[in-house]
Amino acid sequence: MVTAVARRLAAQRKEIDAVLEPFLLSPETLREVKNKMRTELEYGLKRETQGSATVKMLPTYVCGTPDGTEKGKFLALDLGGTNFRVLLVKIRSGRRKSVRMYNKIFAIPLEIMQGTGEELFDHIVHCIADFLEYMGIKGARLPLGFTFSFPCKQASIDKGTLVGWTKGFKATDCEGEDVVDMLREAIKRRNEFDLDIVAVVNDTVGTMMTCGYEDPNCEIGLIAGTGSNVCYMEDMKNIEIVEGNEGKMCINTEWGGFGDNGCIDNIRTEYDKEVDEGSLNPGKQRYEKMTSGMYLGEIVRQILIDLTKRGLLFRGQISESLRKRDLHGLNPQEVCGAVSRRAAQLCGAGLAAIVEKKRENRGVEHLQITVGVDGTLYKLHPHFSRVLQETVKELAPWCDVTFMLSEDGSGKGAALITAVAKRLRNIDKYLYAMRLSDETLIDIMARFRREMKNGLSRDFNPTATVKMLPTFVRSIPDGSEKGDFIALDLGGSYFRILRVKVSHEKKQTVQMESEIYNTPEDIMHGSGTRLFDHVAECLGDFMEKQQIKDKKLPVGFTFSFPCRQSKLDEGVLITWTKRFKASGVEGADVVKLLNRAIKKRGVSLVNDTVGTMMTCGFDDQRCEVGLIIGTGTNACYMEEMRHIDLVEGDEGRMCINTEWGAFGDDGSLEDIRTEFDREIDRGSLNPGKQLFEKMVSGLYMGELVRLILVKMAKEGLLFEGRITPELLTKGKFETKHVSAIEKSKEGLSKAKDILTRLGVEPSHEDCVAVQHVCTIVSFRSANLVAATLGAILCQLRDNKGVGRLRTTVGVDGSLYKMHPQYARRLHKTTRRLVPDSDVRFLLSESGSGKGAAMVTAVAYRLAEQHRLIDETLAEFKLTHEQLLQVKKRMRTEMEAGLKKKTHDTAKVKMLPTFVRSTPDGTGRLWAALGFPEWQTKFVLFLQKLLGGCSLLN
Ligand code: G6P
Ligand code: G6P
Ligand code: BGC
Ligand code: BGC
Repeated sequence: MVTAVARRLAAQRKEIDAVLEPFLLSPETLREVKNKMRTELEYGLKRETQGSATVKMLPTYVCGTPDGTEKGKFLALDLGGTNFRVLLVKIRSGRRKSVRMYNKIFAIPLEIMQGTGEELFDHIVHCIADFLEYMGIKGARLPLGFTFSFPCKQASIDKGTLVGWTKGFKATDCEGEDVVDMLREAIKRRNEFDLDIVAVVNDTVGTMMTCGYEDPNCEIGLIAGTGSNVCYMEDMKNIEIVEGNEGKMCINTEWGGFGDNGCIDNIRTEYDKEVDEGSLNPGKQRYEKMTSGMYLGEIVRQILIDLTKRGLLFRGQISESLRKRDLHGLNPQEVCGAVSRRAAQLCGAGLAAIVEKKRENRGVEHLQITVGVDGTLYKLHPHFSRVLQETVKELAPWCDVTFMLSEDGSGKGAALITAVAKRLRNIDKYLYAMRLSDETLIDIMARFRREMKNGLSRDFNPTATVKMLPTFVRSIPDGSEKGDFIALDLGGSYFRILRVKVSHEKKQTVQMESEIYNTPEDIMHGSGTRLFDHVAECLGDFMEKQQIKDKKLPVGFTFSFPCRQSKLDEGVLITWTKRFKASGVEGADVVKLLNRAIKKRGVSLVNDTVGTMMTCGFDDQRCEVGLIIGTGTNACYMEEMRHIDLVEGDEGRMCINTEWGAFGDDGSLEDIRTEFDREIDRGSLNPGKQLFEKMVSGLYMGELVRLILVKMAKEGLLFEGRITPELLTKGKFETKHVSAIEKSKEGLSKAKDILTRLGVEPSHEDCVAVQHVCTIVSFRSANLVAATLGAILCQLRDNKGVGRLRTTVGVDGSLYKMHPQYARRLHKTTRRLVPDSDVRFLLSESGSGKGAAMVTAVAYRLAEQHRLIDETLAEFKLTHEQLLQVKKRMRTEMEAGLKKKTHDTAKVKMLPTFVRSTPDGTGRLWAALGFPEWQTKFVLFLQKLLGGCSLLN
């Protein structure tokens, strides 16, 4: 009898063990889960695979953890966990930093969770109204941070489109909608109070920020509660779906969906499948359904039902026996233990994948990191946290992970995020006029296109602001140039003299030696004679150093100012720009002034844009635009001769120096100029001129930022209202400072150094704000250049009559080169504004001097070719008598050829052709007869020549 019972019990034990066996995961299985999770994380980050990845890796637009300088009074909503809470959060910064919170929990009835979206949001707003009343703050329009613990696609911190409900929510008409808009509309519907919704935040992110406030090493947020999820700080360069490579952004992994493609089906039991099928979202959130609080009890229940059905429990009576706890041979804890242990282990395996990724990102052997954790499962279950931690330790042994329990919920973190976002939003509002929409940029592009047209036309050029100056440069180098040249390069940050040797053995090579010479301000602002004497002196010094004093080398003169040219070796300065203002030069031919000073001949005058295009054209034959974004800004491009009214001839192309810096000088940019732009102009050497340049280029950008900072400080928006004499000094904030502050990693510490040198004691928040101001100003510059460059690209595309333009833009200039983000932003906006183009931006590595030498070399090559042609043709030159002789003989022969009698013996046969009309001068007839183009041209040329000699008269 006893042995029979024992045998039955043993058999039952075996069956129970068999049921629970799939819940025991071996270390290999867990490692496999970790690896699969790792793969999914990568898929979610990559543009190509993101669409099909089950772990969505949603960007959150939270780019840093708190640093203790956040402050203010905020409302927070916390929806999606066990409790729905409304909170008031007061944050104090500085040495006495503290966070005080008041909150009230509200119920959300099931019929509302699963009713309509409108009902749900009306209910939320009803709870907020109740809370505001309760706190006595109904009149205040407080900024609000919204913790919304569901997967949301975000394009900014204050927008979140619900991807799909999870857990116990299933309200209609919400999926695919922006939950911030829904909340805003519900507030409007109620029409009792107003709130400024600043941020929408996942609970994982809120938790990471809550814990990050105490521990700066906290870069991961984990929720093990009703649902399951993780977020972490990812390097921007790894997030393909967000533009930019600098800094970090928090990624909401939404790992609950891991396995939705079946990749962990090997470990899913029939009970998991039952639970899934009975859930609100079958087939979805498979990993969450194995790991989170909402489902564990349900899995246990499914197992118990099965064991009962098998007669192993409750004598086969499900509902009665469950209550009686009649559990033969089974400790119910055993089932719960197996299920929760598996949940903790799976969660640990997932987390191990995240910490491993963090370790690889940082490139360290040993990682120390803090994970902020929240959620009822983690907090209340007696073993969950221990098993989870052990699993992480085992699967990521090289990581030292500290688990920090969030005591204050996600609301606090959401308020901290709101504090930072609110500050940046204030700046955005403040500098609203500097943020140009694509619509505005497209409009500016059209305006500039009109300016180009005016500048090119003979009638409108005299009054046009954009001068579109012909340069007499007709092609980029063709690779056959050679020689030894001097190049002078005046007008940018440096005055440079170069010796450029272009040799041509198997391949064309360029050797350059250069020297930078100082040009003191009193020379830039003195008399023109003194300026050119200074140039001559520096040149003398250079030639001496190069031991070429006696050589008469041709000179290429890069002179980076607007000059009206009628040939390559002549140029009348229209106006000084940038830092220069020497007297007696405007209206004079600068080549003459130079020649007078250096007693030389053979100077080609070249604008720096043209020099840049030629420099880049040396490496890329497709280069047909030269762009400068440096001290000043300007561009040149190859225009069709037929469009250039100011130069005779319609054949081929010529480079046009647009002088776009003057765009807007006739008031055409007034709608986008700000008070700061006007102040810059007033304080410049050339008020009323170069207005576009003053919004864009390096000479003005730092000063523009300084003026904004002064005004913001005066209004108490920065530095707690402190203004120092240094901050008030013109020129104290330079464009190189803008570049330093916008650097990804050191940007904020650079900001601190620079501002400290200006005498203000900036808080971290001030530094973030100043960085934001710099970004807005430099972004505007890149956007404006993209618009004007876009107009040039459209002109090129139309000139070529192609659907899609393939071209290269040669670029130079200190702002473009030194600013960490400028080039990328410019390229991106340009491509967006001119989508039907493939534009290559080629950085000019060797300055405009090389290009100027190449222009000179081309001019010399052409002159040499003409000389050779003249020489070769010399022996074909006939005297007048000889020609008359030929004419006479030809006439006799022709007549003989036309006469029947003499035709057979005539030398000139005069054969009929049956062509019955004469050419109309365009060569179309010749072409129609099938002559290739060059032959046609040759025939036309012969016609002209013969006509000229009147041989046939
Ligand atoms: C937090 C929150 C919740 C959140 C929860 C997860 O910190 O403030 O709103 O969703 O933890 O826990 P639970 O177990 O309630 O889902
Ligand atoms: C070039 C030059 C300069 C020129 C400059 C623009 O390539 O060789 O002389 O004016 O770039 O840059 P910058 O930032 O010096 O004004
Ligand atoms: C949601 C997540 C959330 C998690 C924890 C999941 O169901 O999809 O957004 O973070 O639950 O609350
Ligand atoms: C000048 C241009 C020059 C540009 C870039 C402008 O101020 O007018 O000629 O190309 O600066 O150096």
